[in-house]
Amino acid sequence: MANLTIRKLDDAVRDELRLRAARSGRSVEDEVRVILGEAVTRLPSEVPATVSAQRPHGLPASASGLARLTLIIGGGIAAYKALDLIRRLKERRIEVRCVLTKAAQQFVTPLAASALSHERVYTDLFDAESEFDAGHIRLARECDLIVVAPATADLIAKMAHGHADDLASAILLAANRPILLAPAMNPLMWNNAATRRNVLQLRRDGILTVGPNAGEMAEAGEAGVGRMAEPTEIAAAAEHILRPPQPRPLAGKRVLITAGPTHEAIDPVRYIANRSSGKQGFAIATAARSAGAEVVLVSGPVDLAEPAGVSVISVESARDMLHRVEAALPVDVAIFAAAVADWRVANEGEQKLKKTAAGVPSLQLVENPDILATISKLKDKRPPLVIGFAAETEHLIENAKAKIVRKGCDWIVANDVSPTTGVMGGDRNTVHLLTREGEGEDISVDSWPVMTKEQVATELVARIAGAVETKS
Ligand SMILES: Cc1cc2nc3c(=O)[nH]c(=O)nc-3n(C[C@H](O)[C@H](O)[C@H](O)COP(=O)(O)O)c2cc1C
Repeated sequence: MANLTIRKLDDAVRDELRLRAARSGRSVEDEVRVILGEAVTRLPSEVPATVSAQRPHGLPASASGLARLTLIIGGGIAAYKALDLIRRLKERRIEVRCVLTKAAQQFVTPLAASALSHERVYTDLFDAESEFDAGHIRLARECDLIVVAPATADLIAKMAHGHADDLASAILLAANRPILLAPAMNPLMWNNAATRRNVLQLRRDGILTVGPNAGEMAEAGEAGVGRMAEPTEIAAAAEHILRPPQPRPLAGKRVLITAGPTHEAIDPVRYIANRSSGKQGFAIATAARSAGAEVVLVSGPVDLAEPAGVSVISVESARDMLHRVEAALPVDVAIFAAAVADWRVANEGEQKLKKTAAGVPSLQLVENPDILATISKLKDKRPPLVIGFAAETEHLIENAKAKIVRKGCDWIVANDVSPTTGVMGGDRNTVHLLTREGEGEDISVDSWPVMTKEQVATELVARIAGAVETKS
């Protein structure tokens, strides 16, 4: 085993470590062991990113698809707080199935736990009704996480020594799920050499713990480390295991995205449009938001739900879009995925055009502002990374290479939008990412396989995150 020298750690990390150790009543060395133990048991291959992925074959998942937790309530004075814990877990959309030890029933009733969890409560290993098919094994496995709160000194001792003489200990021994203990006991019990040994053994076995905290005890005049962690802390720790936080590589970055078509008015009721659905731009906005970015999405008229947490600005014409894009600057990254009309009608009718004997009206077109080129060529507020989209129906790469140079942007996402590809309005996309460093004409082309628009968005955002990190 490798040795770790605390002195070699950075000052802030060392201070944080000492603080954590003091709070949990452990030596710094023990604290490091706990942190390493927790990190190892939370490695992605061990703990489910999506909880359903890890359920063993053949066992039914929660009918609702929500995360499911088995809560074992031990016989300590803090058992009353376990009732509040049930509520805190349910608030977080976690289904809870309770098991009460014999001693726990001296403190809280199965009826209260059942009323709060809306589930049957289990108390007895030799229950004919639930044990006809080895119910304790099912209770151990038909869940994504087992939480023991309060974890009494007695339960901890039984776990450390592999006992299985009641329902709670049998479940804990039969479990192949992560186990989180919330110890709660008198400080003398917590500091007793036997408990210290048992807790250390369980941590070595990969059992996770939350608390205990320091504070006043139920026993008059006693204080110290041994109070059960608060229900909100336990619920947060459980959620952290069930839904590990995703990396947020774009946290603190502001990303601007345009999406959808533009509508260029002919008169008050008619307009020139295109077939863009906005799906790709919206998917990028969602992916950028998930990566932690502050996202501004300037969208032409589309029929899509606004992505959560994204600031959506709706526009009609290319000129509106440019105006709102300029107002959103400065940003760290600008992605122009909108299919902006190249032209608009020179003289938009103030009233609806009428059929007349004079014959068919001719529409005179004028060029719209070029949003991508305008932003790419800004002197002061040019975003550090400007990405355009090239929707082509022929000579895709050639045209996209010419576009990257002509517009002055950094990257182009080129896609073939010929009707046979089904890209316009469809759910899939086949793209080529063209990138260039600085002003040069040395352009790399990376061709991606056919993907859903969400996958393209995720991949693009990952590339952006890498580029942003390199630049900063
Ligand atoms: C009033 C009272 C309060 C108790 N509080 C605790 C406690 O907070 N922590 C603990 O470990 N044991 C506590 N005990 C002792 C446990 O109830 C006892 O060890 C019991 O066997 C635990 O059973 P269990 O682990 O199966 O739930 C308490 C006992 C009584 C009578």
